[in-house]
Amino acid sequence: MTERRNLEQSENEIVNGAVNRIFEEYKIGGRFNVSETDRLIPFRQDDTVEFRNRVVGAVTKRVMEEVFEVRSKIGVTGNVPEGIESSDISHVWHPYTQMSEYGDEQLLVCKAQGATVTDVNGKDYIDAVGGLWCVNVGYGRSNILAAMAAQAADASYVSLFGRSHIPGAQLAKELADIAPKGLNHVFFSNGGTEAVETAIKIAGQYFAHLEKPQKKRILSFKGGWHGCTLGALAASGIDGERNLFLEESDQFSHLPYPSSEELSNPVARSDYFRRFEEMILRIDPNTIAALLFEPIQGVGGMRVPTREFYEELQRICRSHNILLIADEITTGFGRTGKMFACEHFGIEPDMMVVGKGLTSGYAPLSATLASDKIYHQFLTKGKHFIHGYTFGGHPTACAAAMENITTLQKEQLPERAGVVGDRMIERLSTKLGNHPRISEIRGKGLLIAIDLRNESDGEAMSQTDSRKICATARTNGLIVRSLDNIIPICPPLSISDEEADQICDILVSAIVDTNL
Ligand SMILES: Cc1ncc(COP(=O)(O)O)c(C=O)c1O
Repeated sequence: MTERRNLEQSENEIVNGAVNRIFEEYKIGGRFNVSETDRLIPFRQDDTVEFRNRVVGAVTKRVMEEVFEVRSKIGVTGNVPEGIESSDISHVWHPYTQMSEYGDEQLLVCKAQGATVTDVNGKDYIDAVGGLWCVNVGYGRSNILAAMAAQAADASYVSLFGRSHIPGAQLAKELADIAPKGLNHVFFSNGGTEAVETAIKIAGQYFAHLEKPQKKRILSFKGGWHGCTLGALAASGIDGERNLFLEESDQFSHLPYPSSEELSNPVARSDYFRRFEEMILRIDPNTIAALLFEPIQGVGGMRVPTREFYEELQRICRSHNILLIADEITTGFGRTGKMFACEHFGIEPDMMVVGKGLTSGYAPLSATLASDKIYHQFLTKGKHFIHGYTFGGHPTACAAAMENITTLQKEQLPERAGVVGDRMIERLSTKLGNHPRISEIRGKGLLIAIDLRNESDGEAMSQTDSRKICATARTNGLIVRSLDNIIPICPPLSISDEEADQICDILVSAIVDTNL
């Protein structure tokens, strides 16, 4: 490669020139074909293959980014197939949704950009729940779409069963670099629940390899949520849902979650941990493989523990050889003001599960990260990990995740989540703090909860009433979805100050004005 070609600036000039020529030809009626990039790029004879590939890759990515940029600005008119509403109502069985009522609240989205989604009637809404707490960088990022398209064009599917692909290897290294210390090994799955199942199985097999096959039990907290398949559900601490499908099992135990008093008052905390350790001894630590926990409980109501709490929790678990599995599926990728919530509390888990914000919802992907200590127990011949999903670590999803993480870092979105989250909590508290329908407003970063209560008796508001409030907000252009008496707020981390204020203001008037 000549010296001229080594200069990054000249590479950029070649890429820019080629992109301009492609769009010029396209504008005058030419048809752009990716295989023609060679003709449109003035390569020299002595340019290396590596250089050519790099430039062609950059040109293709830029062209796709521009195409997606244009596409995302096209309105919805004319794109809506006739009868789509009734196809949806008659044939899609929606998760956690009462289908007999669904027709009244149908929301068929066909466009999404930034923090705004648009329905088939052309009505815009601010998405205050970031899809399902997952769209961290916002919708319609052309760089992510281009990376996905480029990967799909290069190799649309590669299994990770004894093979690999470029974005998978890049992403695993990136995750090891940004995760809490020592989590160097990454097992990919599709969604959060699958990543939890993976962690539970790794923990069991790890102890089997250490000749402790009886150490299989998983501890978790009451109120914790880890997913809806049978293993992850068994570990979840939402009793009503778990008991519908599962009998009590020796393999899962649920411990009380600390109260606000036990978190903040050292005497109450030490009493809590005395009882916590007694429970472990009663269960028998020789049967316990791991404690699975959310650093900040999400579905359980955005409860934020303290550094002191986690110091003691880690000390007790380590002293009984109980692995720590941090479930960062909701909290990861900047949501709480740091890349991972573990960083707020000095948590150094043995495993960590991530999903949701890993791709910001551009593709299904999750991962279970494990420490060297755990991974090394699987290196002996005949002792490989007995587990895997056909689509786990799909290359297109890994390409999306890489670009998503780059965007989070480049735009410092975790820090932004901290700042906007504080702004929202303050605005909501100022406007609603003393309102009789509010019992508490709390959260960390852009993981915020408003606790609602009845004006008449001060008891927790029913799901029926909290849903009426969400319906008013929807009418006024805001998407929120209540969980019992809680309204969670977890919009894209990229929202502007104005959008954040709008979310607060629409919610305030819905809470105050809805007739219950
Ligand atoms: C903390 C936590 N763990 C696991 C899950 C399950 O993830 P998924 O719905 O992607 O399977 C969720 C989903 O809300 C979650 O909040």
